[in-house]
Amino acid sequence: MSTPETQTPEARGTTPAWAGSQTDPADDPRAVAFAAAHPVRPLPATGTVDTTPISVTPAALGGLDPLWQAVVPETRTRANDIHLPISLAFAERLCRAYPEADAELVRVALVLHDTGWAHVDEERILSEGFTGDWRKAAIRFEHEAEGCKVARRVLPDLGYSAEFVDRVCEIIDGHDTRHVAYSLEDALVRDADRLWRFDHAGIAVAATWFGMTPAVYTDRLGEEIIPELITEAALAMGSADLERSRALLKTGVIR
Ligand SMILES: [Fe+2]
Ligand SMILES: [Fe+2]
Repeated sequence: MSTPETQTPEARGTTPAWAGSQTDPADDPRAVAFAAAHPVRPLPATGTVDTTPISVTPAALGGLDPLWQAVVPETRTRANDIHLPISLAFAERLCRAYPEADAELVRVALVLHDTGWAHVDEERILSEGFTGDWRKAAIRFEHEAEGCKVARRVLPDLGYSAEFVDRVCEIIDGHDTRHVAYSLEDALVRDADRLWRFDHAGIAVAATWFGMTPAVYTDRLGEEIIPELITEAALAMGSADLERSRALLKTGVIR
């Protein structure tokens, strides 16, 4: 694992360590090891899978309050104050479905993963971040690098070890732009990051970002995002929410 001392200048700056190189992230030893350890996809759940509406099980009260308080300014950009709490609730659900995962790592990485949006040019978020090949837009790399900076700024004062902070940053770095997971915890954060969009609150926010009607956006969720989900539990949760949201928003008729 890289540390601040061993990272390349690119890793400390605005570009993830692997971006700009010719190496496919799928060839990274961490990706290869994770794929080898989990050959069955979607990844079978070992614990309880809850597919009820996410509002039934909000994120646990209290435990991460100091962390939330440290990043309140960062929650005010790009609807992070909607996205992050809902995705944290999904992350905690996923940890109950995969109890072998390090739940604290998943929860902390989830809370911080998009805080970097507050430290990039806001006008470029919509102009670059949601159009064209948006996953490869420079602004996407920048928000990942800035998110790592936020993690390195706030976590040590909250008592987290340097090794834990490195693991958090390893998940944040590339969470949107890298197409493969490096670990179970990375996979759970990636799935939780997507699952909030299937809830009607996520559809309301994200359809606007992409300039789509709810009907078109829910079609896209089914065609593009469902196949990206890594875990069996996330697939069950996303599919159940998509069905509920389509019925609730009457997307079969209002199109
Ligand atoms: Fe992101
Ligand atoms: Fe996100």
